[in-house]
Formats: sequence, C-alpha cells, structure tokens
Amino acid sequence: MAYALAAAIARGRQDVILVPYDTQADRIELFKRDFPRVEGAAHPRQTVEETRLCVAAVKPQVLPRALQDLGETRGLLVSIAAGVPLAKLQGYCPLARFIRVMPNTPALVGEMTGAFTPGLGVSAEDRELAAGLLQCAGPLIEVEESLMDGVTGLSGSGPAFFARLAQGFIDAGRELGLEESDARLLTLQTMKGTAALLLERGYSCEALISMVSSPGGTTLAGREILEASDAGEVIRRTVLRAAARSRELGGE
Ligand SMILES: NC(=O)c1ccc[n+]([C@@H]2O[C@H](COP(=O)([O-])OP(=O)(O)OC[C@H]3O[C@@H](n4cnc5c(N)ncnc54)[C@H](OP(=O)(O)O)[C@@H]3O)[C@@H](O)[C@H]2O)c1
Repeated sequence: MAYALAAAIARGRQDVILVPYDTQADRIELFKRDFPRVEGAAHPRQTVEETRLCVAAVKPQVLPRALQDLGETRGLLVSIAAGVPLAKLQGYCPLARFIRVMPNTPALVGEMTGAFTPGLGVSAEDRELAAGLLQCAGPLIEVEESLMDGVTGLSGSGPAFFARLAQGFIDAGRELGLEESDARLLTLQTMKGTAALLLERGYSCEALISMVSSPGGTTLAGREILEASDAGEVIRRTVLRAAARSRELGGE
C-alpha cells in the first residue's frame, strides 16, 4: 500500500519529496528507483522529523512497534491499518495528531477509493494537507470513526471480492469458447464500463439493470438464474464478515 500511495503522489504532486522507511533496505531502493523525488530514511524517526506528514503503512499486528519507533513525535501521522481505532493509535504516540484512513489497492493505478477520520488535535490545515496528498490516488470520503470498519469491509477488501466475481465471468467466457485473454478483456472492460456509467451518469443500479434488460432478451434470461440464487445475500454476508474482521483486528 505504501508503494501504491507513493506512486499516486509522485504522479500527482511533483513538488512532494517522499521519505520512505522500511525494515528492509531493498524496499527503500525500490522507491528510489521508481519515483523522481525520494530521500530514503535511515531511521523511522527521520520520516516524522523531516516531513509534514508521515503514513504508517504496516500490518496492524506490527503497527504498535512501528509507531513506538517514531518516538515522542508531535507530527501528523496517517494510519492505514485495518481496524485499528484512533484511541489505540493515540495510545502508542500520545503527542501526535492522527488521521485514520482506509485506502484500497487500486491506488496503484490512481483509482483508489476509501475514507478517512481525523483524530484529536487535527487542524483544518492538517486535514487539507492529508486529503490533498492521498486524493492523488482517488476520491476519499470523510466519515465518523464508527463507520470505518464498514468502509474496510466494502472498499478496503472490495477489490478482492470484485476480482473473484470477475473470475467467474472469465471462466464462463472460456466455457463458451473464448480465448482466456479475450474473456478477460471482455469481462474487465464490462466491469469498468459499468462502473463508469453508474458513476458518470448517476444512474441507480436498478435503472441500469432495466436499461440492459430488453423484454424476451438475453439479459432477462440470465437474470432469471442470478435472481433466483442467493448471490446478493452471499455478497452482503461477505462484506459484513470483512467488516466484522476489521472490528476484531481493532480489539487484538
Ligand atoms: N493490502 C490492501 O489491500 C490494503 C487495503 C487497505 C488497507 N490496508 C492496510 O495497509 C497496511 C499495509 O498493508 P500492506 O498489504 O501494504 O502490508 P505489507 O505488504 O506487509 O507492507 C508493509 C511493509 O512494511 C514493512 N515493515 C514491517 N515492520 C516495519 C516497521 N517497524 N517499520 C517500517 N516498515 C516495516 C514490511 O516489511 P516485512 O515484509 O519485512 O514485514 C513491509 O515491507 C495494513 O495495515 C493494511 O491493513 C491494506
């Protein structure tokens, strides 16, 4: 995720200098190789002492250690860790100002979405700085912290769920005789085009479904199978389970 966010910021904001730190030095080299303005840090503390905003992009399980390595910082810290609440973050670095963010991996191609919640002491200027940088990767919404587990289950984990659905379409295309690469293109461009139509024209999902469903046609025939199944319920339970896991991670 750190690489994905850095890629988007490097693309969108040429004025920004990135100061990456990783426990493995070769990962810092990767940033230096791929982005134009990078000054790798020798110690994690450098990432808060020499920057206006520091993103902690480590697994929730290693976050306490990573934050403790930053020392008694008063800096502006962004946590992207799934499930870890602001109160807990503040406990690791009591003097810091925290913003909790839930991004997603489409950040790699500038198509991220997600949400953020500012913690105690975060100023309007801090919020603007963080949103301005992170939104290089795609739109973020501001939500109450109580909604962050839901955002994690929906858009944080969502790319994996959509990819699983896409695999089903690709497999069906193969069964119908299409080459793998053709089935993949038709599936993925259909997903992308559907999303673009819904986003850009503002249609409801129901309106779009009706538009594609001619009486007696192919879509209606397919929908008879889809809508007689429990696919909608399975998707609902999938997202709710991911959100519940986010809550569990916060308690661990
Ligand atoms: N992946 C997603 O789709 C996604 C989506 C939304 C949010 N998130 C959140 O993003 C965070 C990062 O996830 P990720 O998938 O990018 O994790 P990741 O692939 O494990 O990347 C974290 C990097 O930080 C390094 N690291 C470990 N301890 C460190 C320390 N003390 N100081 C500095 N660097 C350290 C890790 O090295 P080692 O490999 O040697 O441990 C690794 O290179 C997680 O909290 C996750 O909940 C992820």
